Amino acid sequence: GTAAIGVTGLATMGGNLARNLARNGYPVAVHNRTSARTEALVSEHGDEGVFVPAGTLAELVDSLQRPRQVIIMVKAGGATDAVIDELAGLLEPGDIILDGGNAHFADTRRREAALRERGLHFVGTGISGGEEGALLGPSIMPGGSVEAYRQVGPVLENIAAEVDGAPCCVHVGPDGAGHFVKMVHNGIEYADMQLIAESYDLLRAVAGLAPAEIAEVFRTWNQGDLESYLIEITAEVLGHTDPETGAPFVDVVADRAEQKGTGRWTVREALELGDPVPGIAEAVFARALSGAVRQREVCASLPGPTEPPGEVRSGFVDDLREALYGAKLAAYAQGFSMISAASEQYGWNVDLAGTARIWRGGCIIRARFLDRIAEAYRTRPELLNLLADDYFAEQVSRSQQAWRRVVGTAAAAGVPAPGLSSGLAYYDTLRASRLPAALVQGLRDYFGAHTYQRVDRDGYFHTLWSGDRSETAS
Ligand code: 6PG
Repeated sequence: GTAAIGVTGLATMGGNLARNLARNGYPVAVHNRTSARTEALVSEHGDEGVFVPAGTLAELVDSLQRPRQVIIMVKAGGATDAVIDELAGLLEPGDIILDGGNAHFADTRRREAALRERGLHFVGTGISGGEEGALLGPSIMPGGSVEAYRQVGPVLENIAAEVDGAPCCVHVGPDGAGHFVKMVHNGIEYADMQLIAESYDLLRAVAGLAPAEIAEVFRTWNQGDLESYLIEITAEVLGHTDPETGAPFVDVVADRAEQKGTGRWTVREALELGDPVPGIAEAVFARALSGAVRQREVCASLPGPTEPPGEVRSGFVDDLREALYGAKLAAYAQGFSMISAASEQYGWNVDLAGTARIWRGGCIIRARFLDRIAEAYRTRPELLNLLADDYFAEQVSRSQQAWRRVVGTAAAAGVPAPGLSSGLAYYDTLRASRLPAALVQGLRDYFGAHTYQRVDRDGYFHTLWSGDRSETAS
């Protein structure tokens, strides 16, 4: 075989990744279940590099140099398992399979263990950046053995996006670590988009701005701390006019947000880990609620505010920028905390600074402040919460009062802002000196003798609520 690497699954992402490899000088073997796609890729883009078309997986494997490296770019789930099964029968010990789909990390762990038994390496690889990223340089989050990364790392680093001369690709950790980190990336993506959407809604409903004006606001915001890909494309989408009706594009789109599942996975795993990601959860639930058409219909006549919300503060737009920034920081803090919790649980030793660094380019959540996040974890790898980092603590202290005004205004105006308000509650919960969790403990002890700890001595205690209310140590 002469090809350096193979790609099977040539839909948009797979096709573009194969082209990216070819353009970077790697002879790439390409395969697709229906060969028309393979032929189309080679005939349309054959001049971009060396493509070796393969009609079957056996042919693909035959055309590869050893140790062989095959990237699977098919639908997550059963389709991925089917391709892995077939490939495993064709490959030899030492060969490497990469799964570049949005696989669930638990599937990746299972597949890695099964393939390891057969002497094969399996690298569950998170790839972010959409179509354009796959072609021009995505952010790449590979998980697998050190040995496997030694082989494929240089290739992945070559095709990844680059920021300040460094590739947006790092060996995240063993087995499922890469797909886990990609899942949390998507969870943060959900939270970030929800916060942006709420900000747009408030600019429209409270400040009375038109979509094209709001596009300008986002364009301005994109010059400062909020600078990011999602803010940039928000301005594009809001500035767009529907060619058919001449109406703002955002007004002709049905207001039901869909999801393919990675946000939901993030929340489910956070629940399992006991590491809360309320901002991400609110975003997942907000999408679900937007799609609950029948419930929205039966509730549509419920009253809104009966007191006029009052004059809109002149500084409302600036306040909103601060609120959005604070809430974004809270969402990123939650995501990083969750990665850290999983890293501990699974013994992955994930480099949080490295994770922030490779998210600076190529991926959907790329943003200026990821530089600062990387710096925060580089100087203090043991940092327990991003909001406790000196730089971000100072940033959020400056934003928090404006953030409170915005959440208050949203509530008074009857505009739902679950992301902005849950972020503020997260912040206030973390900084509180006493929480009403003490009362929850008391109630649990009252009805279920679940016991409680005391502030002044060690041990677990129970009060004889239905007796003389004396306390017993348990
Ligand atoms: C990326 C994106 C990509 C995809 C999301 C969309 O990193 O390139 O996150 O993975 O666009 O999975 O997810 P939903 O369809 O669930 O919004």
